[in-house]
Amino acid sequence: MRILAIETSCDETGVAIVEDGRRIRANVVASQTVHQATGGIVPEVAAREHLRALDPIVGQALRDAGMELGEVDAIGATVGPGLIGALLVGANYGRGLALASGLPFVGVNHLEGHVYANWLYETEDIPPEPELPAIVLVVSGAHSDLVLMEGHRRFRVLGRTIDDAAGEAFDKVARLLGLGFPGGPEIERSARDGDPTSYPLPKAWLADRYDFSFSGLKTASLRLVRSLEAKGALPVADVAASFQKAICDALAEKVARAAAEHGVRTVMLGGGVAANGPLRAEIQRRTSVPLRVPPPRLCTDNGAMIGAAAFFSLRHRTGEIPTLVRSTMPLG
Ligand code: KG4
Ligand code: ZN
Repeated sequence: MRILAIETSCDETGVAIVEDGRRIRANVVASQTVHQATGGIVPEVAAREHLRALDPIVGQALRDAGMELGEVDAIGATVGPGLIGALLVGANYGRGLALASGLPFVGVNHLEGHVYANWLYETEDIPPEPELPAIVLVVSGAHSDLVLMEGHRRFRVLGRTIDDAAGEAFDKVARLLGLGFPGGPEIERSARDGDPTSYPLPKAWLADRYDFSFSGLKTASLRLVRSLEAKGALPVADVAASFQKAICDALAEKVARAAAEHGVRTVMLGGGVAANGPLRAEIQRRTSVPLRVPPPRLCTDNGAMIGAAAFFSLRHRTGEIPTLVRSTMPLG
């Protein structure tokens, strides 16, 4: 089964063609660069950019796959959670395309997409599917969810952030340090030249819970930066490395604890922050079960993950498939 899938929930316009939920035949992603000037995403601007980009990218994905629309079996699109205007562009385009070509339309939960990115592959040899049950950490610009995946599409959220998302904390601290947007990759790059033990920053454990809190860490980073600036020098790489260590320790500690408590067979990561090398390494160091992480370009928003989630949502259907967009949409 071939699904043409569309992702427009935030600032990436993604269109992919995915076979049987796993094999990527095409995956075109256009990242909106207009937001770099504002240092954050302006929702109306994002929606307009999706509208401009979508049609050519659909054409590009079909060309990359060497396919015609007639060879596609279903159309999938993200219907939430995300920016409502941005979601509307992709979901309405997808619904229109499905209607015009007589294909079924599958509305997809973006967070399920981040989870099912772990099922994708691009190579000739087929990697084994992740074994379930699994602990999944979905960490993006908008979410930090620690999830027990008991079976296909059976999710139990064990914890989530009570304030900022992990990616949001990366973005805000990057801005404090005068680094670019999005902040995650910039912090990771800068931290390579820094000493993570330079400044002890709070980890906000929220002991005995699986929830996360990053606002304390953000405020502590702000105070640290201000006091260093007052002294006349800001060692950007050392602050970046110290911040990255604090956030990775907090995430990895809870992933490891949840994996042990639930006796899972796999730990999986998803979402833009999962692209972070030190985070992967820290989780690997603390857990004994196999760790699955999509390659970085499949961690950040893309159409292929939506194609994978669309396939598994048809195969493991539990009720009505959503078609209307919603800005909030829990996993499971
Ligand atoms: O999943 P995603 O592309 O979009 C959302 O659904 O939000 O995640 C974007 C977030 C941004 O906050 C970005 O700074 C962060 O993922 N990110 C990273 C890295 N690459 C992207 N954070 C840390 N390290 C990275 N290498
Ligand atoms: Zn995302």
